[in-house]
Amino acid sequence: MNGLARATVLAAALCAAGAFVGAQQEAVPPAPGDNSFCLVCHINFAEEDLAARHVAKGIACTTCHGDSFDHRDDESHRTPPDVLYGRAEVEPFCKGCHEAHKSPGNVEAYRLAHKGETRPNGRTIRRTSVCTDCHGVHVVHPTK
Ligand code: HEC
Ligand code: HEC
Ligand code: HEC
Ligand code: HEC
Repeated sequence: MNGLARATVLAAALCAAGAFVGAQQEAVPPAPGDNSFCLVCHINFAEEDLAARHVAKGIACTTCHGDSFDHRDDESHRTPPDVLYGRAEVEPFCKGCHEAHKSPGNVEAYRLAHKGETRPNGRTIRRTSVCTDCHGVHVVHPTK
């Protein structure tokens, strides 16, 4: 399965399992997740906006990247985590849980006001920006 299929399947499986609540229905928040076994090595993600906001709602690193046991145990760091996302895979994955912005007008105003600016994650805000260009510093790949 390619990354997109995996990400989509993951989101679908999570939705089907009711493992989380949609952004607009907060009635039954899941138990908080635990990122400690990833933060041992990825301490820079402890306060990263996207990771922090999601784990507070029970959506941990492993919810999005898989349990990644082999990655965690590989001291030579050659085994990647179970699930990674290419740039084209980000939007469909996030939309699995966040269908649309509550106030699209505000987002368009933000896009226009900040167009061409580079965020701390190295991503540039533009017409074709994906979710992670504007949210968090949760990326490694620069804008292509
Ligand atoms: C034993 C240390 C260690 C642990 C534990 C660990 N990682 Fe990593 N991880 C690394 C190193 C080293 C890299 C490669 C350097 C980098 O990209 O920061 C990496 C890279 C990654 C990448 C980017 C891979 C790529 O090819 O772009 C992701 C995503 C990731 N880790 C997720 C996780 C998640 C999720 C967990 C917890 C389930 C985790 N890691 C636990 C050491 C670790
Ligand atoms: C809500 C889902 C989600 C959560 C939670 C999450 N990630 Fe990610 N992660 C992503 C996505 C999507 C990308 C790709 C973003 C992009 O490149 O635009 C990514 C990218 C990364 C990368 C860079 C990999 C690369 O080379 O592109 C690392 C490292 C990483 N995540 C580690 C973590 C760690 C550690 C945690 C927990 C502290 C975590 N992530 C929590 C979805 C998530
Ligand atoms: C498994 C479902 C799930 C996935 C996948 C997911 N999210 Fe979330 N996200 C949530 C939940 C639940 C919340 C908490 C909702 C709330 O507090 O309004 C949240 C919160 C957020 C927030 C904070 C909203 C606020 O009002 O403060 C942002 C921003 C966000 N997510 C962006 C993303 C992005 C970008 C991605 C893709 C990398 C993503 N999410 C993937 C479920 C998910
Ligand atoms: C051009 C920048 C930009 C892009 C691209 C973007 N967002 Fe946002 N997002 C914002 C801004 C700005 C807000 C605050 C809007 C407000 O105050 O009404 C926001 C708010 C949110 C919220 C909080 C709830 C809401 O609807 O206001 C979530 C969740 C979210 N975005 C998720 C996402 C996801 C998922 C994607 C990709 C499918 C995405 N965003 C793409 C700029 C962006």
